[in-house]
Amino acid sequence: MRVIKTKDYADMSRKAANIISAQVILKPDCVLGLATGSTPIGTYDQLVDRYENGDLDFSRVNSVNLDEYRGLDKDNDQSYRYFMNKHLFSRVNIDVAHTYVPDGSEPDSSKACADYEAIIENFGGIDLQLLGLGHNGHIGFNEPTDHFPKNTHCVDLAESTINANKRFFEKEEDVPRQAYTMGIGTIMRAKSILVVVSGADKAEILNKVINGPITPEVPASILQLHPNATIVADEAALSKTS
Ligand code: F6R
Repeated sequence: MRVIKTKDYADMSRKAANIISAQVILKPDCVLGLATGSTPIGTYDQLVDRYENGDLDFSRVNSVNLDEYRGLDKDNDQSYRYFMNKHLFSRVNIDVAHTYVPDGSEPDSSKACADYEAIIENFGGIDLQLLGLGHNGHIGFNEPTDHFPKNTHCVDLAESTINANKRFFEKEEDVPRQAYTMGIGTIMRAKSILVVVSGADKAEILNKVINGPITPEVPASILQLHPNATIVADEAALSKTS
């Protein structure tokens, strides 16, 4: 696992965007695995800048996102599809028909997950998967547990996540209870992986991810076994890593 230390969030975002840009330049029809959350927003802004400057062309790029809430339609402003349209897809020349997010509006979870895994397989896998890191070491919606889930699957959201999400919805019953997420196996099959991490609040878990034992209790620790994984993290996030 390669670790690149950056000064701060802006520097992290630039360096992560450099790596993604290199992938798009070297393989214009690449498959990018993308993430939501607050950490990659600066990286997406950087990619938009490069597109606007004429340095990046997304017209042949394909993308697959890590996860989506089950039960949310793509037009719901809390859906991950909505997030991706807002922060990246609507701002660059990617063909939206070439962008994939698990289908949260598909009620049959086995079908939604099998279809998504098939989309990734048909592409011949993911060239570069971007990841954020949860405070408990989760990647995608793969929470700490006793095993590493192999493929895209449906997860029950923790009560704490449901409570935290309440404020975004009019009625409590509208808050999603489940999500579809790529499995750890799906993520590990990506040819390369880029993890972005920022802030002192992630320092403790990042040290476990890099130096701790490989365990499903810290799902991201499995990235130690990936042949081409890079962590781009700022000084604050790396402050507890020796
Ligand atoms: C996002 C995702 C999550 C986030 C993680 C970190 O698609 O699957 O695993 O990457 O929760 O979120 P932030 O960046 O908001 O700290």
